[in-house]
Amino acid sequence: MQDQLIVALDFPTEAKAKETVLALGETVGYYKVGLELFLNSGGRIIEFLQEKRKKIFLDLKFHDIPNTTAQAARWAASLGIDMFNVHASGGSEMMKKAVEIVQESCLQEGTKQPLLIGVTILTSFDETGAAQVGFKNDIQTTALNLAVLAHQAGLNGVVCSPHEVVVIKEKCGQDFLTVCPGIRPAWAQSGDQKRIMTPKEAIAAGVDYMVIGRPITQAQNLKEAALKVIAEIGGK
Ligand code: C5P
Repeated sequence: MQDQLIVALDFPTEAKAKETVLALGETVGYYKVGLELFLNSGGRIIEFLQEKRKKIFLDLKFHDIPNTTAQAARWAASLGIDMFNVHASGGSEMMKKAVEIVQESCLQEGTKQPLLIGVTILTSFDETGAAQVGFKNDIQTTALNLAVLAHQAGLNGVVCSPHEVVVIKEKCGQDFLTVCPGIRPAWAQSGDQKRIMTPKEAIAAGVDYMVIGRPITQAQNLKEAALKVIAEIGGK
């Protein structure tokens, strides 16, 4: 199963998300669940995906004091998911504590350890917005600094633009994972995504996981769209 492709389940109802997963069948093995779907399904979507033997990236972007984040991280790990994330701007202590508690609790419970990924700087920020909240450097530099901080804190990788992968891997090592939205097959509309790459370009750039939503979930034929992406990244 090709698991570099993570399909984003950005849906307002649990029913619509389930319908999409069922329509994609065996073609897609990894899904991203964000705040909208996690909340509107009361968390039940996790169980559904696990029943269907799917991998799960729980995209809840924790950002709180170290103790609160660590406890949330413990519960996330206890769900048996495969990947989740915290904001790197929550700081080094917060990230380290999350890593520690995930390692400890998974060891204790004998459960698999999910990948812990950092969110650097949201792409919705422009230079003005970033300056307003107190970031002193330009966005690129801030994002790279936060990736380095996440790496030093022991996280497994970061969410980033496919255009940042090369420089992040140069600074943090080839094993530091990059999880990238902003991927658009040549045949799909870019929508509100700017600075995009095609799946083929993304793989060549060293992207480890690509998060793709609408080009697949809003396609006329979901399976066909997913298969085209998978063929492009050289999977089966
Ligand atoms: O539909 P689309 O392929 O644009 O979906 C991309 C997914 O990745 C969405 O769930 C979006 O929230 C998420 N995302 C993003 N850009 C970021 C971080 C996350 O598009 N910088």
